Amino acid sequence: MTKVSIVIINGSLMKQLVKKALRLPAKAILASGYDVIQEYIATSPAVWFNPYLSAKVRPYRPEVETYIIRRDDVARPVTTGGDGSSLPIPPKERFIYPLSEEGFIASGKDNAGTIRRVAEASGFSFQTARRILDFGCADGRIIRWFHDLKDCEVWGVDLLGEYILLCQQYLSPPFKFATNTSEPHLPFEDRSFDLIYACSVFTHIADLADAWLLELRRILRPGGRLFITVHDDRSIEMCLDPEAVRRHPHLAPIRDTLLDLERQNPFVGTNYSMFTVFRAPGPGGHREAQVFYKTDYLKEHLASMFNVRSITLEAYSEFQSAYLLEKPASYAAGHPPVAVRS
Ligand SMILES: C[S@@+](CC[C@H](N)C(=O)[O-])C[C@H]1O[C@@H](n2cnc3c(N)ncnc32)[C@H](O)[C@@H]1O
Repeated sequence: MTKVSIVIINGSLMKQLVKKALRLPAKAILASGYDVIQEYIATSPAVWFNPYLSAKVRPYRPEVETYIIRRDDVARPVTTGGDGSSLPIPPKERFIYPLSEEGFIASGKDNAGTIRRVAEASGFSFQTARRILDFGCADGRIIRWFHDLKDCEVWGVDLLGEYILLCQQYLSPPFKFATNTSEPHLPFEDRSFDLIYACSVFTHIADLADAWLLELRRILRPGGRLFITVHDDRSIEMCLDPEAVRRHPHLAPIRDTLLDLERQNPFVGTNYSMFTVFRAPGPGGHREAQVFYKTDYLKEHLASMFNVRSITLEAYSEFQSAYLLEKPASYAAGHPPVAVRS
């Protein structure tokens, strides 16, 4: 015989239990029903912020069971914005950064220009490149500036399914896109890319950053380049400079968190390797990981996996430095020589 227990809970207790179970931030509780569900499912503390779970997914509209993607939702072409292409610009409410259309176009041009300049200064040729990857492409702000590379397959991947769908709708063809998870694996063959760039991505990968670097090295060809932007000593200096914070108000919350951390446990003047706050992978809605490295440590650490070809300060929004890395040619044979320690 099945035993059934009936527990009667009054309304207010029920509300408290639901709130506790969901552990939603106050901001989300006050938001509309749809946003609450989106926010909760997309950043469920039990999953998204759990450091023990490595393969997290951010699917498009996780709260629905059925959805339709209509190709003709895309207004073609909206503005060309001076990028010399007829690629449509997504609606600005769907940009990952709160930018105007002009800002979206100008900042993408600037970032893509830096990638090109830095890579070319190391002897890299875009004319002979056959495959390029934008790791963490978000809304395609940067990838669109590679539309002139006619003989090159240009891919974008991101954790956020919603943005990959947006890119597939707006920018494919000519570009190709795929959603990945937070597990350090990408669905590409070994040695398939000539260049990978990751703008403001390693600034948000707290755990498993090394595994991601090694995964990107796996899919690079020997001699291929990896361009990453990171927070390093220069970024910390800027955070602590009131003039820089006035110029870039988005630095204020990071500065406050850094100062809090320093008050509790002084470390900035010590010999540390890295620190992170918030820890969740990628933009986590109301929180996202912010990762900072001590420059000396980072150089040494990256040199254990790559040839460090150059470091460019203030390369991305003035606040992040770019490290250009090269996969050593010794990987050509598939079995790189093992370093013998004396
Ligand atoms: C701050 S945004 C920058 C977006 C874009 N690179 C740009 O500069 O406009 C960081 C992006 O990296 C993505 N991201 C973070 N961790 C990732 C990972 N492990 N794999 C793929 N994308 C990731 C986020 O989802 C987000 O779209």
